[in-house]
Amino acid sequence: MLGQVAKEKGLQELNRVRSFSRTSSGKFGPPFALLGDGFLSPAGPVGCAGACWSLGLRVKPELRDLEVYKPGKPIEEVKRELGLKEVVKLASNENPFGPSPRALEALREALPNVNRYPEGGCYYLRKRLSEKLGFDEERLIFGNGSDELIVMAIRAFADKGDEILTAAPTFLIYRIAAKAEGLGVKEVPLRNYRYDLRAMASRIGPRTRLIFISNPNNPTGTYVSNEEVEEFLDSVPSDCLVFFDEAYFEYAYREGGDYPDSLKYQSRGNVITARTFSKIHGLAGLRIGYAVSSPEVIGLMNKVREPFNVNSLAQAAALAALDDEEYLAWVREMTEAGKSQLYRGLEELGVEYVPSAANFLLVHLGPKAKAICDELLRAGIVVRYMGPWGLPKHARVTIGRGEENEAFLRELGAAMRRIGAGGGS
Ligand SMILES: Cc1ncc(COP(=O)(O)O)c(C=O)c1O
Repeated sequence: MLGQVAKEKGLQELNRVRSFSRTSSGKFGPPFALLGDGFLSPAGPVGCAGACWSLGLRVKPELRDLEVYKPGKPIEEVKRELGLKEVVKLASNENPFGPSPRALEALREALPNVNRYPEGGCYYLRKRLSEKLGFDEERLIFGNGSDELIVMAIRAFADKGDEILTAAPTFLIYRIAAKAEGLGVKEVPLRNYRYDLRAMASRIGPRTRLIFISNPNNPTGTYVSNEEVEEFLDSVPSDCLVFFDEAYFEYAYREGGDYPDSLKYQSRGNVITARTFSKIHGLAGLRIGYAVSSPEVIGLMNKVREPFNVNSLAQAAALAALDDEEYLAWVREMTEAGKSQLYRGLEELGVEYVPSAANFLLVHLGPKAKAICDELLRAGIVVRYMGPWGLPKHARVTIGRGEENEAFLRELGAAMRRIGAGGGS
């Protein structure tokens, strides 16, 4: 009886939430609707979940105003929504050339065994990566994407009232993960689109537990150099961890260049280097990344790691992809060619961009940037509007295959003409 009443009450509430969260276009609004003080309910078309939540669960205060990370729309979703047959997705910094053929072969071999739990410790991958990087196995940890490593570091090392330090704009997960744990977030504005490490050093306080450096930075594609990093690290107290997020390392690193491989700072003891198989290795859909740090730091991160956090297919594919140097070199080369193609095309259109060390570009579209991005979307080209990052005149564009870059440049020119927009201020 009680259950029936609760269910009906829940359904009424769900309807209320749904009508509240529908936008004028008839689409659902933000994924959560606030129901009075501190009660949340999922607002999307999620069956009974909305009803169940609205029955009176108390919500962690940290989550009340927390923004939800909105990833780039999947290709299939854009096709469905806009009735398009072809969509070019340049919105999530994925590798448009796909995974290495060796990774695909390894996946085929691993498929029949998905009835078994994966190896929690990523045994073979750990062994191979340890040899390759020259760090003991106990200094490695794997995550369900490097996103999870960010969350693990925050959960392991910071307590309520502590804070993280990072830049703005940068990868949004640092802020979202820290806020979800009740931490303070200090954000130091970029200078000329680059992390301002000197300004960041001056903001380190007694409660700063973790410093996140996206190098290269997402969304600007810029990097901080060896020299800047070394000066910065000298000013960081030893009880504060510096997390180098090197998701785009393989695109940026050049032997003898000034882009730093943060593994060389590992002897300092308070450095975490995180990388991913989602970008140059083309395995974003499988979710796997890794971090290197001192055995103590890794030991503590392991305490907050879920037992089977990395699935068996991801482990098999990553192991195979790791050693396919030829494929990686080819992807790097194709990405550089695509970058030159975009630079040239944007210059011809009179559109400014930030030179990038990664596989994406920050493009300055001017005051009508949002309208241009919407026009591009209607034409089947998905780029990332940077308004939510605090860059309302910019878009971030992933470097695609040659024909995708060409389509983007063509549609960008057309959209600018239609809207009457130049790249100007
Ligand atoms: C700077 C940065 N760090 C981490 C990630 C997350 O990567 P993963 O797919 O390994 O979770 C991304 C993904 O876009 C990124 O841009």
